[in-house]
Amino acid sequence: MKVAILLGSTRMGRQTHKAAHYITQELTNRNIEADLIDLAKNPLPVLKERVGHHPDPPENGVKISNRLDRADAILWISPEYHGSISGGLKNAIDYFWSEFQKKPIGAVTTSAGGFGGINASHHLQQIILSIGAFPMPQKLLIPQVHAAFDDSYALKMKR
Ligand SMILES: Cc1cc2nc3c(=O)[nH]c(=O)nc-3n(C[C@H](O)[C@H](O)[C@H](O)COP(=O)(O)O)c2cc1C
Repeated sequence: MKVAILLGSTRMGRQTHKAAHYITQELTNRNIEADLIDLAKNPLPVLKERVGHHPDPPENGVKISNRLDRADAILWISPEYHGSISGGLKNAIDYFWSEFQKKPIGAVTTSAGGFGGINASHHLQQIILSIGAFPMPQKLLIPQVHAAFDDSYALKMKR
């Protein structure tokens, strides 16, 4: 089982990467191959055309496409921005289609406040359906993400 984790928080001072690293480690601990695709480290320009349709797609688009292709399941991780998902994640999702097709995709969202990005989470579920993938009924919402993990990305709160 291979899981690709597409991390859609890219801003300076971001917090959501901590959740992505934590989840990557938890999957690894369960002998599940986890591939963290961090859009801050693998940036994609604003979409001109999808990878499969672009005559000369951006190098990172091709690399991410290959990594998503190899995955049996995918997690999309997004902070909530202005009542929805991050623009960076939506831009990245729009590059691909077949890479997501008929795969289970889990939605993980974060917020600084107490609601864990519930609006972003609903929007992710809608996009998963629209893209022809299978949304997971369980959604992971992480409120107060800035306080949830320590500097090693371990969970601060007791499980
Ligand atoms: C542009 C922007 C818009 C935001 N909008 C919301 C929002 O609508 N709802 C919310 O709960 N938090 C919002 N936040 C706060 C984020 O939840 C907070 O930054 C959190 O740490 C997760 O995002 P990060 O990975 O960028 O740190 C917003 C933050 C930014 C930068």
